[in-house]
Amino acid sequence: MTDIAIKPLSNACGAEITGVDLTKPISPDVAAEINRAWLDHCVIVVRGQELADIDQVNFAEAFGPVGDYLRPDTLRNDAMKERHRSVMFVSNIVENGEPIGSLPDGEMMFHTDTGYDQNPHKATTLYAIEIPSEGGNTIFSNQYKVFDALPEELKNKIEGRNAHHAYEFGVMIKDKEKYDGPELRTAVHPVFRPHTETGRPTVYMNELMTESIEGLSEEESRTALDEIFALQKEKRFCYEHVWQKGDLVMWDNRCTLHARTDFPRNERRLLRRVTIEDAAPAWAA
Ligand SMILES: [Fe+2]
Repeated sequence: MTDIAIKPLSNACGAEITGVDLTKPISPDVAAEINRAWLDHCVIVVRGQELADIDQVNFAEAFGPVGDYLRPDTLRNDAMKERHRSVMFVSNIVENGEPIGSLPDGEMMFHTDTGYDQNPHKATTLYAIEIPSEGGNTIFSNQYKVFDALPEELKNKIEGRNAHHAYEFGVMIKDKEKYDGPELRTAVHPVFRPHTETGRPTVYMNELMTESIEGLSEEESRTALDEIFALQKEKRFCYEHVWQKGDLVMWDNRCTLHARTDFPRNERRLLRRVTIEDAAPAWAA
């Protein structure tokens, strides 16, 4: 028996967990309960936490090995190099003329973290240190529900196929058909992936990183992807998280996408990200 309570945050996904202090080591019972809630709701929110880097890393390690932040060393600034290898800052703050984090300002398209890698990290934890007065919300889209809602014709057309994923570090809004920069990363994943723990099928494609579906003409692929991307944005599949300082959010990259809303450029936003590797990359194409 633990002190944990779980409250759903929307019909799409997300649940708030109360009754836990993440500055203290969590017991196996508590970790199992949080993991269960996370698998059920895809996104969990724990509010009012005061977490140092190591607290967040310790929390993440209760669910699996923390992922090395995959950004190449050439793109890591000095502030990042001094941190734990797994810590990435998402921030628009500039200190001494240098950004202290990545993905600074404005809106960001739906994506899944590290989906440009052949073995994407299963989870992302994000902790709010400084939050603007408005905006900068994170919208989560539930890809189990999108899969269930796909029109049969579209599902039949693409079932069993692979999709090509690509990403250039730092891009938040993709405004070209194909990435072609020097720090390009690519991967191939099945269009529908069974979740490695629940076994349920998910749609594993997203607007920021998925460029084409194998075996379809360019036009067919574009049409199918546009239809899927439009569906993923429908409000009935989404939970929009309005951040408060001290929020720790953990989401499942295997069954959700996330996007960011715009926020005032003149206000500071700082979040700390630590990801968790997937021990069972059963979908590797
Ligand atoms: Fe992300």
